[in-house]
Amino acid sequence: MSKIDIPPVWEQAVAYVASKVPQRVLLLGATDTGKSTLALYLAKYLLSKGLSVALLDADVGQKDVGPPATIGLIHLKSVLSPLSPPLAAEALYFVGSVTPVGHMLPLIVGTKRLLERSQAQVTIVNTTGLVKGPGVALKSFQIENIQPELILALQRQGELEPILAGYKYLETLRLPVPDKVSPKSPLIRRARRQEAFKRHFKGAKSISLDGERLILQRVPRQGLRVGLLCAVANKQGETLALAVIQGLEEGGQKLKIFTPAPEEDIAVLICGSMGLTPLGEERHFCSRYTRTRSFPSRRRRNRRVSLPRGQRFPPVRSRKYKQRPRSPKSRFGPTDHTVPETEG
Ligand SMILES: Nc1ncnc2c1ncn2[C@@H]1O[C@H](COP(=O)(O)OP(=O)(O)OP(=O)(O)O)[C@@H](O)[C@H]1O
Ligand SMILES: [Mg+2]
Repeated sequence: MSKIDIPPVWEQAVAYVASKVPQRVLLLGATDTGKSTLALYLAKYLLSKGLSVALLDADVGQKDVGPPATIGLIHLKSVLSPLSPPLAAEALYFVGSVTPVGHMLPLIVGTKRLLERSQAQVTIVNTTGLVKGPGVALKSFQIENIQPELILALQRQGELEPILAGYKYLETLRLPVPDKVSPKSPLIRRARRQEAFKRHFKGAKSISLDGERLILQRVPRQGLRVGLLCAVANKQGETLALAVIQGLEEGGQKLKIFTPAPEEDIAVLICGSMGLTPLGEERHFCSRYTRTRSFPSRRRRNRRVSLPRGQRFPPVRSRKYKQRPRSPKSRFGPTDHTVPETEG
C-alpha cells in the first residue's frame, strides 16, 4: 500500500474539528474519495488531543468497522491501539445487503440506533459512496437523521452540491480528494468484501434453532432460502453477528444456520436480501433492484421445497441462485438504477 499523504487542507480541517469538538461529524463523498482514510486520520488526531472518539461506519460495502452488510460502531480507546480497518464492532446493525440501493430504510434506522449508543465526545459517521441518483435522497435523509454539527464533504467536481444545497444552514467543510487516492475496481471491491465475510465467519459453527422459540424478522416474500444472508440478534433485538441459512431439520421444526454467534444468545433471526456461499462469495437474488423480468420464473417457484403441515418456518427454497445480471435489462429503468456499480 502506498504511503498516506495527508494534504495540508485535511490537516487544517482536523485541527478545526479538534478545536470545535462537534458531537457528530458526518463524512460525505463518492466512492474512492478518501472517506475512510480521513475518518481514521481524524479519529487518531482527536484521540491524540485527549478526546474520546467513536467511529460509526454506515458504509455497507467497504467496511472500516464490522462485516459487510452491517453498520458498525466502535469506541476508540487509545491513540496507541492499531487503527487498521476493518475494526471489530462493539455494536452492529444488520442492513441486509452490501448495497444501499433498496436498503435505505435499514440504513437510516440502523444509523440512528447506533448513534444513540455512542458515548464519545466526537462520533465520526462514515457513509456509502452513493451520492448520485438515489444517493441524493439517502444522504439528505441521513443528514436529517444524524443532525451533524459538522459535515466534511470530500468532492472532486462539486458532485456533492445537489445534496449540500438543501443544508446550507449546517456547517460544512468542503475538502479536496487527494491526488494519491487509488480507485478500487468493482472486482477488487467484491474481493475485499469476500475477505471480510470470510474473516467474520472464521470459527463459525452450524447450529439448529428451535422454530418455537426463534423470532423471525424481515422474511422475504419468496420465503427463506438456503444460502440467504441473515443476522442473528439477542432478546433486545441487537444484532450479534451474521448468519447463513443452511436448511431445515426435523421435518421443518428446526432451522440450521451457520454463524459465529453463541447459540445461547440468539433470540431473533433477521433476514437479509442476498445470498452468501461458504466461501464468502456473494449471490444476489432478492432485491427488487436486481430482479430481472424472468424472476421469479414459474419453474423456479415450483422448486420450493414442500414441507409437512404445521411447519413453523416458511418454506426454504432450493439452492439455486440467480447471478446478478452483468448487463441488466431491468424493467425498473436504465442500468444505473439497477446495479449500484458505485457501491460496495
Ligand atoms: N491522502 C492519501 N494519500 C495516499 N493514499 C490515500 C490517501 N487517501 C486515500 N488514499 C488511498 O486511496 C484509497 C481509497 O481511499 P479510501 O478507502 O479512504 O476511500 P473511501 O472514500 O473510503 O473509499 P470507499 O468508497 O471504498 O469507501 C485507499 O487505498 C487509500 O489508502
Ligand atoms: Mg471507505
